[in-house]
Amino acid sequence: MRKAFIAGNWKMYKSIPEAVSLVQVIRAGVHTVQDVDIVVCPPFTALAAVNEALKDSNIDLGAQDMYSETEGAFTGEISPLMLKDVGCRYVILGHSERRQYFGETDGLVNKKLKTAIKFNLIPIVCIGETLAERDAGKAKEVVANQFEGSFQGLTAEEFERLIIAYEPVWAIGTGRTATPQQAQEMHGLIRSFLKDRLGDTVERVRILYGGSVKPENISELMAEPDVDGALVGGASIKGESFIQIVRGSLLEAKGSGKVSSS
Ligand code: PGA
Repeated sequence: MRKAFIAGNWKMYKSIPEAVSLVQVIRAGVHTVQDVDIVVCPPFTALAAVNEALKDSNIDLGAQDMYSETEGAFTGEISPLMLKDVGCRYVILGHSERRQYFGETDGLVNKKLKTAIKFNLIPIVCIGETLAERDAGKAKEVVANQFEGSFQGLTAEEFERLIIAYEPVWAIGTGRTATPQQAQEMHGLIRSFLKDRLGDTVERVRILYGGSVKPENISELMAEPDVDGALVGGASIKGESFIQIVRGSLLEAKGSGKVSSS
């Protein structure tokens, strides 16, 4: 029984005042929602102000990245302790934009996620294939390799303290969502890898879908047995659409019996 999970990745958008007004709108729109874990991931500069604006709400705070060391001479980087300090509970790691534009490897993602878990941050770890890889029939192989590399050496207990996001790169910011069947196929594959490592506790790990999630497609995606939530980019920086996505996930989660009280 997995509780629905909706996270907004705001990417490099929103000034501090804009971030605070957005989160106020979202907060008012979802305050009665109980059966969904709701997270917003603003840019670093807005984390403190958004944390303040989220006090006593049902929304958690996340960051979009972090470094794998706790402190030191790493100009421009942010450590897990700093994220904790500013009120984060979650951190997105290995997003395809980090992999594509900033050269992040599975090895670095692996280091980062182990550090995050050590400091009690919950990593949302992204994996997914590019269009060229899918067209070449290599989607499963690529995701299998990313899974191996990113999660190397993780104990079963550590696996239970992270969230996985399957984000096909060709669906990110393109308006081209994976069909529910395409999403399920890959989520099922990821769950089978987890089962090899975890056995029956695999049922506790949540796998999110990301890539052009909108109010119009959230319910059909959530209807798939292994889609437990969404990592939302573009539609998460518009208050009303994010609110509708949260509500849409709840309706389907209830219908499919995925809601748990844990
Ligand atoms: P998108 O982005 O919803 O704008 O496609 C998703 C993501 O990058 O996490």
